[in-house]
Amino acid sequence: MAKLFPTVPGPIGVFDSGYGGLTILSKIREVLPGYDYVYLGDNARTPYGSRSFEIVYEFTLQAVTKLFEMGCHLVILACNTASAKALRSIQTNDLPHLDPARRVLGVIRPTVECIGDITLSRHIGVLATAGTIRSESYPLEVHKLFPDIRVTGQACPMWVPLVENNEAQGEGADYFVRHYIDDLLGADPRIDTVILGCTHYPLLLPKIRKYMPPGIRIVAQGELVAGSLKDYLCRHPEMDMRCTRGGQCRYYTTEAEEKFCESASTFLNERIEVEQIEL
Ligand code: DGL
Repeated sequence: MAKLFPTVPGPIGVFDSGYGGLTILSKIREVLPGYDYVYLGDNARTPYGSRSFEIVYEFTLQAVTKLFEMGCHLVILACNTASAKALRSIQTNDLPHLDPARRVLGVIRPTVECIGDITLSRHIGVLATAGTIRSESYPLEVHKLFPDIRVTGQACPMWVPLVENNEAQGEGADYFVRHYIDDLLGADPRIDTVILGCTHYPLLLPKIRKYMPPGIRIVAQGELVAGSLKDYLCRHPEMDMRCTRGGQCRYYTTEAEEKFCESASTFLNERIEVEQIEL
């Protein structure tokens, strides 16, 4: 049976397994400042990167349903792992009976769309969580648009913990940043473009730039996702009309409020108010 969600216009929902999606949210708000947003971080159950398909799907569906209950008609899965492991099933199997008029969009497609214009060697690399790499979602999406591009993935399991523990600028981070970059370029030395396929990695950018050989383009996804959302809303006026405009953002977490506020300031550079909820 279809669930009943609020039918009046509502904020745009942005979901992540934790704090990382705040890097995407801030770019979206820069490009589309007039809309209202709800950010939901499943901090109590993060990280998703090492979890199975079934669990990531179950957790993501719970979060999407909660955001619909909060009045969102459009939800962005800012998390690459959730986009890789849950988006397709939610779009195909769940939305039709949850509410066929609501939409859930991910971050992988908008990120790969620009790749064909950037790479000259037609060899690209993707740095992401183990779950995203194992899902093969990046090569699948790239090959739908650019079958001639060779994609090499490299899992970086230590990068999210470094960021989460506020060690992104510390000396210890250098070892793991260089280590995964060397592994990636060792696997395919012709790579000329590298996608940062994880919400947390923009916070490691200074060190990633330091160890990436000159001439390799680094593609971070925040601006791409924001631009793609703007384009989506222009192409879908019926959805645009269902998104409220007040320039406000509310934050929810499944973890303790104080913990979220403290760490979120690393990602946003500002203090925010947050409410704890259960999924
Ligand atoms: N948000 C996740 C992603 O973009 C990284 C953190 C996690 O593993 O949950 O893949």
